[in-house]
Amino acid sequence: MLDGKANHLTSLPAKLLLTILMVGFLLGEALLWKTMHLADGRPALSVRDLQISFTGGYDNQLENKIYGTMRPYLPSVKALDEIHEWIVHGATKSEFDHSIMPILKNSCMGCHRHGGKASFRPLTNYEQLLEMVNHPPAPSLPEQLNFTKIHIVTIGLLLFVISYLFFQADVPCWCKYLLSATAYGGLLIDFASWWAMHWSLEFAYGRALGHALLALSTLSMGIITLIKSGRHPSQAVS
Ligand code: HEC
Repeated sequence: MLDGKANHLTSLPAKLLLTILMVGFLLGEALLWKTMHLADGRPALSVRDLQISFTGGYDNQLENKIYGTMRPYLPSVKALDEIHEWIVHGATKSEFDHSIMPILKNSCMGCHRHGGKASFRPLTNYEQLLEMVNHPPAPSLPEQLNFTKIHIVTIGLLLFVISYLFFQADVPCWCKYLLSATAYGGLLIDFASWWAMHWSLEFAYGRALGHALLALSTLSMGIITLIKSGRHPSQAVS
């Protein structure tokens, strides 16, 4: 036995924990692929899929939201069509007063007003709604902040445990630092690029690169640890 010490990784709970975390990670990746890969109509996951998921495939923020997360608040398809027609026909003030204001009052202002759930974006008059028509489509700030917070914390913790177990495995030091730093670096590049997509959709390439680095290094750490943990420490010494 090496220095008379027991290898933590030969313990069943550590192997089980790592296996469960790796299965969870792979399921997360499969879910990501499933929700995004058909955005451009083609089966392979591409940078275009990432761009369409960001903009919803719409030209402006109002359409992105009324056909997306705000859809359940509209009372009917007719109301949806009315807003769409209003945008297509130039988003005029007279048409707004006639047919859009009643929809906003009944279906949107409960939240989109001072003191409402969506007070960050009041939609109580023509100018405020027009701003959304002229705004490029993107996830809204609270939505993106929430998603970033949840993912940085959960993936960060997952990486911490996988890296910790990986650091106990019998692999050269440089390999340990390289793979765990690549995984954390990939996570940061992925999310930083997602935010930078507000500036230019070309940053979708950064997302793809960051995510690939994160996924490949995490998988490598998990697989190497599981393979190495199958061996008794004394076998690892040549
Ligand atoms: C129950 C509360 C609620 C109602 C009702 C509601 N919204 Fe929202 N809205 C939100 C929240 C919360 C967000 C931020 C999260 C998101 O974008 O999904 C939001 C985001 C938006 C945004 C994006 C704002 C931005 O700054 O990017 C638009 C546009 C929008 N809503 C339009 C509407 C319209 C039009 C209606 C009415 C048909 C409506 N909303 C009804 C809560 C609501």
